[in-house]
Amino acid sequence: MMFASDNWSGASDAVMDALARHNAGFAPAYGADPVTERVSARFADLFDTDVTVLYTATGTAANALAMAACARPGGLIFASDVAHLHCDEWGAAEFYTHGMKIVPVAAEGGRMRPEDLSAALARTPDGGRFGTPTALSLTQATECGTLYTVDEVRALTDVARARGLVCHMDGARFANALATLDVAPADITWKAGIDVLSFGGTKNGCWCAEALVVFSDGALRDLATHRARAGHVFSKSRFVSAQFEGYLDDDHWLDLARHANAAAQRLAQGLTEAGVRIAWPVQANEVFPVLSRGRIDALKAHGVLFHEWSTQGCGPDEAIVRLVTSFRTTGDEVDAFLAAL
Ligand SMILES: Cc1ncc(COP(=O)(O)O)c(C=O)c1O
Repeated sequence: MMFASDNWSGASDAVMDALARHNAGFAPAYGADPVTERVSARFADLFDTDVTVLYTATGTAANALAMAACARPGGLIFASDVAHLHCDEWGAAEFYTHGMKIVPVAAEGGRMRPEDLSAALARTPDGGRFGTPTALSLTQATECGTLYTVDEVRALTDVARARGLVCHMDGARFANALATLDVAPADITWKAGIDVLSFGGTKNGCWCAEALVVFSDGALRDLATHRARAGHVFSKSRFVSAQFEGYLDDDHWLDLARHANAAAQRLAQGLTEAGVRIAWPVQANEVFPVLSRGRIDALKAHGVLFHEWSTQGCGPDEAIVRLVTSFRTTGDEVDAFLAAL
């Protein structure tokens, strides 16, 4: 029973078919091929505006390069205290930005509140010794499986923009967020004040395919150069484009995410019926139950794969664990987990 992460799944059949379709013959290298051009136009349609689309191999690279493109000497990046960018990327953002500092903002269930962002910004006046506020990075869906509504994104970017910050969205699970929110991609991104989005593909059916989608070039005009210098310009770019073609066609990406989210709901319902407390609302494809140590060990012994997340707010003999569903998670697998529980 596999609930360790959505990136343990393979690639979806439609994505693999698209790869096979574009495998024959020759095509110009380094992104000058027709598939890449077509898919870039597809992203513009999807977001209902002109966009610059730059691929990277990993979400970590996408996040770090977005930060690199807006970096300033002594710059500060504001992100939630559980942001992947802050906690799980080996200091990539700090490295690629020549040492911008990440300022963790308190977040309940992964979500920053505008008042906490305001307070953090108030403590860092421009030109002060601590550094210069430069960027906001918010994650959608969050690391705790929760979501920001359009109004919540707007409230945060309003605060950030008032101080001239570039606004980045880490959308490693953007599809899962959209599948629940059911809003237009434009409404939750550039129309809500986002300048650049790390658009994830890998966790939800691609392999090794992430896209930086830039809505406002001004603050990020050197992004293409940063990406090239970081070694993320693929000579056979058509293979990344092919994945996104298969991913985006006929709303396949949203179907995959809906499947994953539905599996998470089924898990959450079963856990609740079993009397288990769930730490945060289940809004995407991650479930964070609070389990006793005995139950955690027994589930592991039963062969269930998952990660322990934290012990915050837990009793002495408990922990919050993270269960992640994916487009490959079956109802049978969820039921087997609940039976094991
Ligand atoms: C929210 C979030 N952002 C970014 C990433 C980074 O993705 P990658 O592992 O492809 O570098 C992850 C991966 O787990 C993630 O969960």
